[in-house]
Amino acid sequence: MSTQAKAYRGVAMEGFIADWYARNTARDFRRFSETARAVAERAKPGGRVLEVAPGPGYLAIELARRGYEVVGLDISRSFVRIATRNAASAGVAAKFEHGDVAHMPFPDASFDFVVCTAAFKNFTDPVGALDEIHRVLRPGGGASIVDLRKDAPHAAIGEEVARMGLSPLNAALTRWTFRLLLLPRAYTRESIVELARRSRFGGCELGEEGIGFDLRLAKGA
Ligand SMILES: C[S@@+](CC[C@H](N)C(=O)[O-])C[C@H]1O[C@@H](n2cnc3c(N)ncnc32)[C@H](O)[C@@H]1O
Repeated sequence: MSTQAKAYRGVAMEGFIADWYARNTARDFRRFSETARAVAERAKPGGRVLEVAPGPGYLAIELARRGYEVVGLDISRSFVRIATRNAASAGVAAKFEHGDVAHMPFPDASFDFVVCTAAFKNFTDPVGALDEIHRVLRPGGGASIVDLRKDAPHAAIGEEVARMGLSPLNAALTRWTFRLLLLPRAYTRESIVELARRSRFGGCELGEEGIGFDLRLAKGA
């Protein structure tokens, strides 16, 4: 029997961890609507959008509300269930599938745009993930990888957590998760740009906002 390398760094986001994350981020509408707006500036209206690692599906739902045909792919079966339920409650047609970003179950050139938020630092094969994103994009398509910056100031992380409206204990746990689990895995500007250069995209543009970066990728027409 062949052994497969683990597809993510850290713990699996299954069961109660997925429920906790879904509850914590449910009120974070500002983050999802700002990202949806940024996607809409680059993705053609009504286009086919893939969200890689959508977790509870809040961004995918926001994109579906804006008229995109949205598919989400996540390694966590709990999140596939939660996101499917959330999309049904929201009355949108976003679809969610189980799978690994580095081996996606989609044909070549099947999406106009790919977006991924708060997840890239968890991928164990980041160049493989970028190459797969490149493969499933149509020529002329684009991608946006939004994630935590290694140099995000602790004060800014505190403000971000405060905006989530959590109980004091949960806010403390969330700040602790950022500082001790997420920041150590986060990419520096130099390291994320270098990964994009080594991938099939061959390069990128990098934007920075708040505690994160937005790695903007384009597939030649
Ligand atoms: C912190 S959550 C982010 C969820 C959501 N994108 C957000 O912005 O709130 C990280 C997500 O990455 C997913 N994930 C981790 N490794 C993955 C992989 N190799 N392929 C697909 N999804 C993966 C996890 O299951 C989880 O849904």
